Amino acid sequence: MKAVAIKTFGGPEGLSVVELPAPEPGSGQVRIAVEAIGVGGVDALIRSGSLSAWGFREGLVPGSEVAGTVVAVGPDTDRTWIGQRVWAFTGLGGGYAEQATAAVEDVVPLPPGLSAAGSVTLGSSGVVAHFGLAHAHFRPGESVLVRGAAGSIGILTVHLAAQGGASAVAVTTSSAERGELLRKVGATHVLDRSGRATHAPDRSGGARSTTSGAGAAPSAYDVIIDVVAGPDVPSFLGMLRPNGRLVAVGAITGPPPAELGTALMANFRKSLSFATFSADTVPPADRRTVRAEQFAAAADGQLPIVIHEQLPLDDAVLAHRKLQAGEVLGRIVLVP
Ligand SMILES: NC(=O)c1ccc[n+]([C@@H]2O[C@H](COP(=O)([O-])OP(=O)(O)OC[C@H]3O[C@@H](n4cnc5c(N)ncnc54)[C@H](OP(=O)(O)O)[C@@H]3O)[C@@H](O)[C@H]2O)c1
Repeated sequence: MKAVAIKTFGGPEGLSVVELPAPEPGSGQVRIAVEAIGVGGVDALIRSGSLSAWGFREGLVPGSEVAGTVVAVGPDTDRTWIGQRVWAFTGLGGGYAEQATAAVEDVVPLPPGLSAAGSVTLGSSGVVAHFGLAHAHFRPGESVLVRGAAGSIGILTVHLAAQGGASAVAVTTSSAERGELLRKVGATHVLDRSGRATHAPDRSGGARSTTSGAGAAPSAYDVIIDVVAGPDVPSFLGMLRPNGRLVAVGAITGPPPAELGTALMANFRKSLSFATFSADTVPPADRRTVRAEQFAAAADGQLPIVIHEQLPLDDAVLAHRKLQAGEVLGRIVLVP
């Protein structure tokens, strides 16, 4: 079968199309004929080599999120899976391929009305959005800032916060044009990446930045869901209200600086909290339940599906170039 492997860590050109034997499903696993592959920000981190300390090696087939039809099951595995159209988490890799295996606890049937491509924009990100907000103890009426909102995790977090009764949902993004999409899914305020200036549509059709005007953004937030992390986390901590909670669900620009602890203690009298959140800590049964609910909602048009572009699997290098260039709004999908 055709697959894409990381030949050498570094830039997108380190990805290469290879021929491999189809993977054999083990006990409790299924094999899927893949129709759609979600390209996540984490795939780019793995490809770059920056996660090699976590055991990722050159030669790996990246990709952890696929959808398609189950064509085989492993020993001692329920054969009724065969023929079902499913979404699946493939683990730490194996997704950029014509066929992939997954444990049945990480496989969710697709409802009628949800495409394979649509499901790979939601399957991983929706769970992070849902449980990330829960980890932040988000309650209706609270104000929420989503940092790095234009990715698939951010878009769904914005939507769920708005649906969950947030009093305001502000987002950071690089342009007013991206802000328009984010307003459609529930953002009430669109800020630049610093979180300080508002991207507002210009009446002449262009974009301008302003810090004031009608509908000025809240001066502080109860909850910040942060997909970006990196050196600016202390500055965003300063935007929390008393008892505010900042939850890092991603680290696109790396870990927060060592001064994070100093920034927290400097705000001691505001009782602020900083936390990380990984969906790995959610029990598999809970992840499955939420995924199935979100898939049903998406099939009914109640959850946004934002597919930036669908590209052939052969174009994995191009997909990663687009990711690296910051062009991707929502999810880029590879099609074998
Ligand atoms: N918690 C979990 O269980 C879990 C699970 C899967 C993945 N993740 C993590 O989630 C992250 C990827 O999430 P994603 O796929 O939704 O994101 P993404 O699509 O890679 O990026 C989200 C947005 O962040 C903004 N951004 C990019 N570079 C930036 C920079 N240098 N400074 C500020 N903003 C920047 C961009 O929007 P603008 O250009 O509009 O600003 C981009 O669209 C990774 O860190 C991954 O490890 C976490």
